[in-house]
Parts: sequence; C-alpha cells; structure tokens
Amino acid sequence: VRAHVRFARTNLLEIEQLPQRFEFIFCRNVMVYFDQDARQRAVGMLERHLVPGGYLFVSHAESLSAIRHDLQLIAPAVYRRSRP
Ligand SMILES: C[S@@+](CC[C@H](N)C(=O)[O-])C[C@H]1O[C@@H](n2cnc3c(N)ncnc32)[C@H](O)[C@@H]1O
Repeated sequence: VRAHVRFARTNLLEIEQLPQRFEFIFCRNVMVYFDQDARQRAVGMLERHLVPGGYLFVSHAESLSAIRHDLQLIAPAVYRRSRP
C-alpha cells in the first residue's frame, strides 16, 4: 500500500491548491485548533478539492454548522460534496 501513497507535509492555512481532487478527505482533530476564520478557509479549500460525491470526514468534536459550505451532512462528522 505504501508504494501507492504519497506522503507530504502541508499547512492547511497557507496552501491554496492541492495537487489533485479526492474522493475521500480525512481531516480529523485538526480544525479544533483553528479559529472561526481559519476553519472557514480550510473547509472552503478542502471542499474545492473533493470530487462531486466525495466525502469529507472530520471528528465528532468538529461541527461545521457555523461554517459556510455546500457540503451535505450525511452522518455525524461525515460530509459529502453534492453531485452537479
Ligand atoms: C490532535 S492531532 C490529530 C491527528 C490525527 N488527524 C488524528 O485524528 O489522530 C492534530 C494534528 O493537526 C495538525 N495540524 C495543526 N495545525 C495544522 C495546520 N495548520 N495544517 C496542517 N496540519 C495541522 C498537527 O500537526 C497534528 O498532526
């Protein structure tokens, strides 16, 4: 499995663009450290990098209810980008 995985460090608050779009993004227990503005920017950036129908997993401590986004909550802490 490792041969198919690319590991990279990145700062979610500085990066605008990821190298590709993803079907699944796991970002658990990271945004708990961010203030509201930083959380908004990070969620916007992650949302843009989900393919339509792709999933964003956060932790149960990280509600996106105070964040503007177009994701659909499909289960606790699991969001999905709408299909066009
Ligand atoms: C509590 S750990 C959670 C680790 C793992 N996601 C988990 O759920 O076990 C918080 C992680 O957030 C990362 N982190 C904090 N601020 C970050 C940022 N601005 N950009 C990227 N990662 C960040 C830290 O490096 C750390 O690995």
